[in-house]
Amino acid sequence: MTDSPSGLSAWHALQNHQRHAARFDLRELFAADPARFGKFSVQCGKILFDYSKHLATEETLRLLVELAHERALPVWIERLFRGEKINTTENRAALHTALRSREAVTLDGRNVVADVEKMLSAMQRFCAEVWNGTRGSSGGRAFSDVVNIGIGGSDLGPAFVTEALGPCARPAPRLHFVSNVDGAHLAGVISGLAPETTLFIVASKTFTTQETLANARSARAWLAAALGEKAAGRHFAAVTANPAAAREFGIEASAIFEFWDWVGGRYSLWSAVGLPIALAIGMDHFDELRGGARDMDEHFRHTPLGRNAPVLAGLLGVWYINFFAAAAHAVLPYDQRLRRLPEYLQQLEMESNGKRITRDGAVAAHSTAPVIFGAAGTNGQHAFYQLLHQGTQLIPADFIACCRSLHDLPGHHDILLANFFAQTEALAKGRSGAEAEAEMRARGLDKAQVTRLLPHRVFPGNRPTTSILLPELDPRALGALIAFYEHKTFVQSVIWNINAFDQWGVELGKELAGRLLPELEGGVPVSSHDASTTGLIAHFKKYR
Ligand code: F6P
Repeated sequence: MTDSPSGLSAWHALQNHQRHAARFDLRELFAADPARFGKFSVQCGKILFDYSKHLATEETLRLLVELAHERALPVWIERLFRGEKINTTENRAALHTALRSREAVTLDGRNVVADVEKMLSAMQRFCAEVWNGTRGSSGGRAFSDVVNIGIGGSDLGPAFVTEALGPCARPAPRLHFVSNVDGAHLAGVISGLAPETTLFIVASKTFTTQETLANARSARAWLAAALGEKAAGRHFAAVTANPAAAREFGIEASAIFEFWDWVGGRYSLWSAVGLPIALAIGMDHFDELRGGARDMDEHFRHTPLGRNAPVLAGLLGVWYINFFAAAAHAVLPYDQRLRRLPEYLQQLEMESNGKRITRDGAVAAHSTAPVIFGAAGTNGQHAFYQLLHQGTQLIPADFIACCRSLHDLPGHHDILLANFFAQTEALAKGRSGAEAEAEMRARGLDKAQVTRLLPHRVFPGNRPTTSILLPELDPRALGALIAFYEHKTFVQSVIWNINAFDQWGVELGKELAGRLLPELEGGVPVSSHDASTTGLIAHFKKYR
């Protein structure tokens, strides 16, 4: 197989096709085909994915699916699920799907699903002990608060899911998350807590992450100051693939939850990294979350590419990034509880596919991951949607909403959904010059005003969106939604021929920070950097 997708015949066919597609008009596409919604939407369980508001015809999808076949996507999907070591730079499998599988998955001669089941039983026991107080504080009291200390994949997933599933939460313990090494984060969280009844979970795959260890050490000092050094140890649990380091930190072996090198940090919320989720919402709900992901895994593995929700999402992303030069993608959840989804997806997509080197070590001749951004609707409408509607860039967007809300404030959900539907329609159809003129005349504007304002009041439309409708925000639907994005990310990595499961790009900054820290601590003037960095350090030291 050719290294670069741009050498493939489907790629060339798509380049030719784009010359027509650049003139596609969504109003005309809908007018020409009354069955367009049915043809371009896909249901996975109870979740509806509507792709009909895309700059795509059946021919576009046919060519995109052909591209996926030319890149051997079905073979790669099997390699992923079977646990082949497709993370070649680290010689690891990427088996997040095994974390929710009911079937055995063998890796190096071992059924890893049996290991997952043991881990889930241990999580279940731990949660029950925390809830019933048998695993309580050094003073024998039940824990009222649990603080998860972790960063990146050891924070974003659990923090996002715990908030999203808030309505399922048990009354106690209360969950908190500390990620930033900025002391303001930890200080802010612990200022409202009692050391006697606070449990810390240190979540770190490597157990070497500078920020997490600094926060964990400060948490231990806070506990030790109130309870004594010896008692502090009882107030910690760890989730890690490096249990020896957790033991060395002083965490009891019975409170260390292991996971494995075949679980990537940003794909890890289904593992023991989900311990805060299980503590907050209970093991049954955690199982449902995993069940939702399993539903999506089955859909992804067994549905033909042309009706496969994550495949279509990935391919349509490729369509805009590589053939329309789109550089950003918006994620717009019309659900306050999903407000952290964009942030979660930033790590998932940008850390996975934000790469310029292909699997074969060559510089990619094509663009890869876009900038992911977004905010909960309707807030974003009053902030950055101006650019989506009338800016100079094409920014495809995912709109996500639930049919039923889990609150009972009258009227709110209909207002929310009216905005959801209105935005995708406005982005697709825009407002023509004639419509803008008629609207201004109807409001009584005179001819001069109409002429002056007309260019500003026109919306070009043809801004592509996917609408995703969940029945309601329950654990099953959320699990499926997250797995949908995991698989979409994988599809794009296969098309772009990049390894989605390493993250070498985060190393350089870490190394430099490690080398720089002693220079900040010492009183000696620093001169080993470029003039800008040297000047900034000198300024900092003068005014610290
Ligand atoms: O620096 C990036 C990263 O390695 C992420 O991939 C990871 O999720 C995060 O840091 C935290 O790493 P760890 O769980 O090992 O502390």
